[in-house]
Amino acid sequence: MRPRDYGNKLLARRRKPKPKAAKLAAKQAAPAGRPDRNSAKAGPGRNVPAQSASAPPAPPQASSAAKKTLDRILSKAGFGSRTEAAEWIRDGRVKVNGKPAKSIEMWVDPKRDKVTLDGAPVREGAKLYILLNKPKGYLTTYKDPEGRPTVYQLLKGVPGFVGTAGRLDMDTSGLLILTSDTAFADFITSPASHVPKTYLVKSSTRLTDEQLDLLRNGLTLDDGPTRPAAVTRLRDSEKYTHFEITITEGRNRQVRRMVEALGGKVLKLVRVKIGGLELAGLGMGAWRELSRAEVRGLLDTPSGEPRT
Ligand code: URA
Repeated sequence: MRPRDYGNKLLARRRKPKPKAAKLAAKQAAPAGRPDRNSAKAGPGRNVPAQSASAPPAPPQASSAAKKTLDRILSKAGFGSRTEAAEWIRDGRVKVNGKPAKSIEMWVDPKRDKVTLDGAPVREGAKLYILLNKPKGYLTTYKDPEGRPTVYQLLKGVPGFVGTAGRLDMDTSGLLILTSDTAFADFITSPASHVPKTYLVKSSTRLTDEQLDLLRNGLTLDDGPTRPAAVTRLRDSEKYTHFEITITEGRNRQVRRMVEALGGKVLKLVRVKIGGLELAGLGMGAWRELSRAEVRGLLDTPSGEPRT
């Protein structure tokens, strides 16, 4: 399967150009090649070590635009996270032009310098976009110190490193996107994008219409009020309510906490949709690459309040 690379181009299409002055100010505030990312976000690709107080040495003036820091080259090439890249460099496994690299902050010109990891050439790869049907019982982290299963164990055959675009709790199953395109992942997870995410929920109590209205209109959690949500009752049994909810945020354990705020518990939680993307027959634990149209569709997802 051939990796594809189109997210950034499409993102460029979608995003409004910044005014020149703002662009310049942003450039001056952040050193080139070190985008200011929210390191609390999910995915090993974002597991960025805290930046040292001193900025990385500036690249030489000539052709500086083409240069990137070594950790960025390694993570962009889909080899691993920046944290891992730092470890490899520390272990002497990364060479630049035949000499062991000394620092992740070393500036490298990917076109002219020869970077290798364990002797294998590192080239900037095409972007990968993966859709996984996550089973219950798997963590959305790269490695678990307690040795519990992680979604990465399900990604055999994925031809490069991908980070998760958001998280699902261990006990949540369903649609999970993983990608090597960090800008795309940021777009999917950013609270500002309001990309709708749809879940099927089984609650431990029968919920009244008034309670469903509370979910719909927004209720206050310990981290603030929730945005309006689309909620549909699917069926009730003697003890439980099954409903569908579409939220446009992505706060930690948000659906579970919303049901807990009503005095119930979530017994089953399945993510069935992100934007217009559905699992559509993808087996539990299986993955596939997203098509170009699917990636574009996600980037073009209308933001805003879900229709209730
Ligand atoms: N909301 C939750 O409570 N858990 C998830 O895994 C996803 C959304």
